[in-house]
Amino acid sequence: MRPLPFAAALALTAALVACKDKPDAPAEAEPDAPAQPSPETAEPAAAPEPAKAKPGRAPATEEERAAVIATEGAARKLGGILKDRVKEAMTAGAPKSAASTCAELAQKLTGEVREVTGVAVGRASTRLRNPKNAPPPWVDRWLREHESAPASAAEPERWIVDDPDGAVARVILPIGVEPLCLQCHGPKDSLDSGVREVLDSRYPSDAATGYAVGDLRGALWAERAVAADVAAGPVDGLSPQGAG
Ligand code: HEC
Repeated sequence: MRPLPFAAALALTAALVACKDKPDAPAEAEPDAPAQPSPETAEPAAAPEPAKAKPGRAPATEEERAAVIATEGAARKLGGILKDRVKEAMTAGAPKSAASTCAELAQKLTGEVREVTGVAVGRASTRLRNPKNAPPPWVDRWLREHESAPASAAEPERWIVDDPDGAVARVILPIGVEPLCLQCHGPKDSLDSGVREVLDSRYPSDAATGYAVGDLRGALWAERAVAADVAAGPVDGLSPQGAG
């Protein structure tokens, strides 16, 4: 394995991914604010809505918004780097060697992004290839709610969760299946025999085949304490609006 031009990869992939997603609608009014219906607008007859369990609330302070942006930046870095490396490997050699490269690099790169950003970050799915990519419970819930719909129906999520130990920023970015992905995640009998060989030997319980273009393959997730002592603020051209 050659040494990774990590900083260069970060900069490049950030540039590639930063402009891919449309900016989202601005944050809605803080949903968990104490309900204070004004006398003019309150519907006197309507009973108050029962509190629905929500996975989180919108960021309410500058510190929370900055934490969400930094958290999302880490998820995008990981996604961009992994995709770039797969594309590079697919161009450089046979699908079989690309599959080996991917298998060798994915965990290592995930660890490096965690280290560089100070954000817990990962790539998860309900149909795992590597059991090490198992989602944390909050990501698992989101994946199960969305897995049967096309990837295009899933939106990025950005939440603040009020933990007893302090507020936590959480981000989920849906990952859709593109034509390129089918070479290693398409129907098993359509895979190149070399790829199948690599998958069979490295991932005996692989559940990540049989996908079609447009399926939701999984999600990038990231999580960080709002008050964490790590670099916060806009990274890689992500605009504060992106934190909505
Ligand atoms: C060259 C083969 C190859 C291609 C092409 C490929 N992948 Fe993968 N994919 C892998 C391997 C190998 C792993 C397991 C990596 C690991 O050990 O963490 C993996 C894991 C994943 C995971 C993590 C969840 C899990 O099942 O372990 C996601 C999500 C994923 N791939 C999405 C994609 C998407 C989206 C594309 C297309 C943009 C793609 N992959 C293209 C080989 C490939």
